[in-house]
Amino acid sequence: MSESPVETVSPGEPAPVVGILGAGRAGTAFARTLLRAGIAVDIASTRPPRALQHHLKIYAPGAQPVEGEDIAVRARDTSGIVILAVPQEELDEVDPDWVAGTVLVDATNTWQDELLPGWLQAAVDEQLPTSMALAGRFSSARVVKALNHIAHADFDDGARPDADLSGRRALAVAGDDEAARGLVMGLLVRMGYDPVSVGPLAAGRIMEPDGPLFNRPLRREDILRFAR
Ligand SMILES: NC(=O)c1ccc[n+]([C@@H]2O[C@H](COP(=O)([O-])OP(=O)(O)OC[C@H]3O[C@@H](n4cnc5c(N)ncnc54)[C@H](OP(=O)(O)O)[C@@H]3O)[C@@H](O)[C@H]2O)c1
Repeated sequence: MSESPVETVSPGEPAPVVGILGAGRAGTAFARTLLRAGIAVDIASTRPPRALQHHLKIYAPGAQPVEGEDIAVRARDTSGIVILAVPQEELDEVDPDWVAGTVLVDATNTWQDELLPGWLQAAVDEQLPTSMALAGRFSSARVVKALNHIAHADFDDGARPDADLSGRRALAVAGDDEAARGLVMGLLVRMGYDPVSVGPLAAGRIMEPDGPLFNRPLRREDILRFAR
């Protein structure tokens, strides 16, 4: 696994910052776990930051509300990571420039009742992994698929930062850029999970809702059976 800023931060240094787009069930669950791990969080929704404050006091106390366009301002200089936790039907509202230059963690899933943007529906129709379409849309970021195949309700309790990797729940990571994949794996370690690379973005198909990894409490060996 490659060395990452989220792993190498020393006491006394400012906490790394991760940006999260989407402050719903998934986004706030990720935020809580990051904050418990000592990683600061900037988070955005459709609401202006002032309107988001009360919601965050309840669901992710300590997370900093920001405008969508500012989601990567602090993250770019520290962790380098923004997590995308916005419903796929809303993705045309997310400006790719907001996340330019970041490692963008695609934590989204396709649900049948969603009216998808045309560029994403085309990928679904061709049975391509949706994160490959996202990588095309957000081409100024390095897209890594992760965090989509665990339910928000399992996320707080699933994190075991004090346990050895072998005693932790395993989460899959897929990405074409090895360094970006390593960065996300470092973040997951810090959050209390055991990250397992399954290979390039195309391999991320197994993490999608109809795939064998979705919403299952997995150990490393369970995921490695499917890795490329
Ligand atoms: N729920 C889970 O267990 C889970 C787990 C892993 C992954 N996921 C995936 O994560 C995605 C979000 O799911 P969710 O359950 O968290 O949905 P949710 O509870 O409905 O929350 C969606 C959030 O996205 C925000 N949003 C919508 N459009 C936006 C935009 N243009 N810019 C910034 N924020 C925007 C919403 O803002 P407002 O608050 O202002 O409405 C809301 O905070 C889905 O693709 C889902 O499949 C979900």
